[in-house]
Formats: sequence, C-alpha cells, structure tokens
Amino acid sequence: MSVFHYGDNQHKADGRQVIDFRSDTVTQPCPAMREAMATAQVGDDVYEDDMTVKALEQDVAGLLGKQAGLYVPTGTMSNLIAVMSHCQRGEEIILADQYHIAIDEASGASVLGSVAIHPLVADQRGAITPEQVRNAIKPDDSHFAISKLVGLENTVSGCIQEQANIDAIVQVAKEANLQVHMDGARLLNAAVAQAMNPARLVQDIDSVSLCLSKGLGAPMGSVLTGDVAFIGRARRLRKMLGAGMRQVGIVAAAGRYALANNVARLAEDHRRARGLAQGLQGIAGLQVAMERVETNMLFMQSDRMLELGDYLARNGIIVAAFAEQCRLVVHKDIDDDAIASMQQHTRDFFAS
Ligand SMILES: Cc1ncc(COP(=O)(O)O)c(C=O)c1O
Repeated sequence: MSVFHYGDNQHKADGRQVIDFRSDTVTQPCPAMREAMATAQVGDDVYEDDMTVKALEQDVAGLLGKQAGLYVPTGTMSNLIAVMSHCQRGEEIILADQYHIAIDEASGASVLGSVAIHPLVADQRGAITPEQVRNAIKPDDSHFAISKLVGLENTVSGCIQEQANIDAIVQVAKEANLQVHMDGARLLNAAVAQAMNPARLVQDIDSVSLCLSKGLGAPMGSVLTGDVAFIGRARRLRKMLGAGMRQVGIVAAAGRYALANNVARLAEDHRRARGLAQGLQGIAGLQVAMERVETNMLFMQSDRMLELGDYLARNGIIVAAFAEQCRLVVHKDIDDDAIASMQQHTRDFFAS
C-alpha cells in the first residue's frame, strides 16, 4: 500500500462553502455543540478544577474500559505522551511502518522522547502479524535498543483491524513483558462498523488514544486512557510539553457533546463512503480500491488525478489529490447530495 502524504498541492476551503473530502477533521461544530460549549461549567484544569474536563476523561475511560483518562489538545500529543509515559530514553516502540506515529508525527517519539522506532512492513490493510512482532522483540543485548512498547492503530487508513490479530499481537507483547499502546484516533469507526463494544476492541491494551476531532466532529481534543499510574505520568508529561490548560472545559464540552450525539451516526459516514465508492467504480480512467472501503475512507487512482482535483475544485468540491492517488474521507458535513454531486462531477470529468 502506498502511503498517503499531505502535500502542497491541495486545494483549500479558505472559508468558502465547499464540499470537503480532504479529511474528517474539517467538520464544523453544529449549533447544539456550540451551545454546549457556551454553557459549559469550567475551572482551572491544571488545578484539576474543571468538572467538564473531568467528566469527559471519565466518559472516555469508561467507554474504553480503562481506569483513567487525560484530555490533551491533539492525537499527536496523545500518542507522544503515551510513548514517553511507557518508554525511557534508549527504549523502543515496535509498530507498523504506515501508522501515524511512524510517519505523520514528525518523529516526535524519537526527537523528544529519545525513543527508537522499529517499523514493521504492514500489508495492504495496515496489518502486521504476531510473528513480525515476535521477531522484532530484541534480546537483552547491549547492541540493541530495549524493546518496551508495541504500537497498534485502528482503523488504519479506514481499514478495520481484525480483532483476533490484535488480540494475538497483544498476547505476544505480554509474553515478552512489553506494554501495548493503541492509536485509536478512529477506534469508534471500527466499533460502530463491527457493532462491537469499544472496550472489547482494546481489551488488555495498556493505553488508548481516542480523537474527538475526527469523525466525532469536535473542534479539538483527544483523550488518552490507561491505568491510574500511567495517567499520572502522562499528566506530568502533558505539563512538560506545555499543554496544561486552564478553562478548557469550553472545548471539552464539545467532546462530551460529540460522544453523546455523534457516535452512532458514524454508520451514516460508512454507508455514504460505500455508496460513493460504488458510484465511482466503473468510471473509465479511474480505479477505486473497493476492498479497502470499510469505514469512512476510500482511495482512488488515476493518472489524471491532479487534473481531476483542479476540475472538482472549480466545481466546489475539494479533495486531497496527488500525482496518481486521492483519498476521500466522508464525515458528518458530507450528506447524500454531496455524494451525488461528487459522483456526477467525477463522471463528467472523465467523460470530457
Ligand atoms: C491515525 C491517526 N492518529 C493520530 C492522528 C493525530 O491527530 P491530530 O491531528 O489531532 O494530532 C491522526 C490525524 O489525522 C490520525 O489519523
């Protein structure tokens, strides 16, 4: 699987009313979410006085079957804090080469944590095997980094990770006395798509990061969860990284609103992504990777992709188009009309 990379050739929304397929991070807070933010009870969260933040942390910890949670500004910081809470200088994290921590977080784990990254080659759907992990765990030898943490991600580029495989990897890690962290930025997409309890998806996993600013539609925030001792270390690191925040219940309230109102509706995004893929399939000159449409993302290929991106932008649709590949992400601000419009304009382009 080729890796999706952000580039300079993307069209911008620039405040325009457009249909935006670039990511599920582009959603606008709805009036009811803004109302929840405006009326939130707030306090100084560094003093642990913000009851809205506390409630959000407990909500997410409960949802994921963990003891405690910590509200942080971004998924990137959540993953970084997790790695640094689990690992000391000279220790390593073993994970797939295409996970966000490996390629999209500016190597923060290495730069700021002095933690080595051992990347494993993942398959088309972003999966690594228990055998790969077992083989990567190093013996106690002064030549090697100290294997300490296994990283997982679910979903990976929209693909749901097979639960039996996750469970088997966790077991391999536990047998070797390693910790496991799950980047669950879009874990609830995987839970909703499989009609499974999110806590089951992360059973026996030591720490989980959940993003509120992706398909759930909050303007910012992630919650890192784990046991009480882990979250204690994480809290210190959050302060160290400069993200001890004050009356931040204003945005935590948006996260609570998202959890209460926007989880079940992820199924609509999945239905629309499938419908969009089916509508685009069969257009001459365009290939859609149907086997990878499992939640809210789809990938298409064409040697006219940049041209298509420009055409769509002129027609009020923006996509992240690259030389040959394009990722489309469906989210709460993409409705059935937007899907139909995308299909029609794409057909028109390839017919011209
Ligand atoms: C899988 C995954 N993990 C982590 C992140 C990081 O989240 P943030 O953009 O809030 O830093 C992203 C962002 O898109 C992601 O896709």
